[in-house]
Amino acid sequence: MEFLDLVKSRRSVRTFDGKMIDDKVLNELKDYGENIENPYGIKVRFVFLDAKENKLSSPVIAGDTLYISAIVKKDEHAEEAYGYSFEKLLIKAHELGLGTVWIGGAMQRDKFAAASNVSEGEILPCVSPIGTTANSMSIKEKLMRKGVKADKRFDFEKLFFTKNFTAPLSEESAKNLDLYKALEAIRVAPSAVNKQPWRIVIEDNAAHFYLRHDKGYANDDFDMQKIDLGIALYHFEQQLLSEGKSVSLEITSPDIQAPDGVEYIATYKF
Ligand SMILES: Cc1cc2nc3c(=O)[nH]c(=O)nc-3n(C[C@H](O)[C@H](O)[C@H](O)COP(=O)(O)O)c2cc1C
Repeated sequence: MEFLDLVKSRRSVRTFDGKMIDDKVLNELKDYGENIENPYGIKVRFVFLDAKENKLSSPVIAGDTLYISAIVKKDEHAEEAYGYSFEKLLIKAHELGLGTVWIGGAMQRDKFAAASNVSEGEILPCVSPIGTTANSMSIKEKLMRKGVKADKRFDFEKLFFTKNFTAPLSEESAKNLDLYKALEAIRVAPSAVNKQPWRIVIEDNAAHFYLRHDKGYANDDFDMQKIDLGIALYHFEQQLLSEGKSVSLEITSPDIQAPDGVEYIATYKF
């Protein structure tokens, strides 16, 4: 399956069937997680935690039996690396037929941190339950999806630009540049509160990634929306790779005037 089709068939899952997943599948996912790398060369550590044994839960989740917590050393670009690597694992879980959802707010972080042996200098921004998707969503899940308009995304013109921020990129122009699928793969990605904070400026063979900050997503330890950007980087890169293109990540801010509250993150050359 092409990467875009895979990510288009994903949604956040908050209602599970209450059963433990098959050991073989679980071990495949654990092995996969051990070997995940990201373009920043920053290692993200995954811990699989039995919900009952560790008394773990989330107010938005039902039927949960297992959680993955993801941990990274606090450092420059740790959040982007984190978003990239954890999304890679969660997309693999989706490919294996399992449901997941990024949880960055609705959880008792201290409990997950203690169960994951988080040490000094490490951070645990998010976790995800993992399991088989229930046949129907809980009422709470349906309401949550409605609340954040989870089935909707911004149009191309709001998210993507050519050369600078004054020239929006339409779907049609993206098709002409042979970038439609890679940009669409970003558009369908998950983000905290579905804020879709990624903004991308295309310039020749470069895609410059920017973060449009919303208030209330950063604390002393991490910026949740930089994790969203890491997710976007992963989706864009994987779609281009699945089209047989080669890509490389650079961090050199181009000479482009960014609007207030918009921060340069990284550039993919393709
Ligand atoms: C970094 C991050 C943190 C998130 N935190 C939560 C959370 O705390 N609780 C929750 O129910 N969903 C959370 N989500 C899921 C988003 O609400 C969801 O991705 C978005 O609404 C789009 O819906 P979809 O994933 O079904 O496409 C988070 C997503 C991301 C990427």
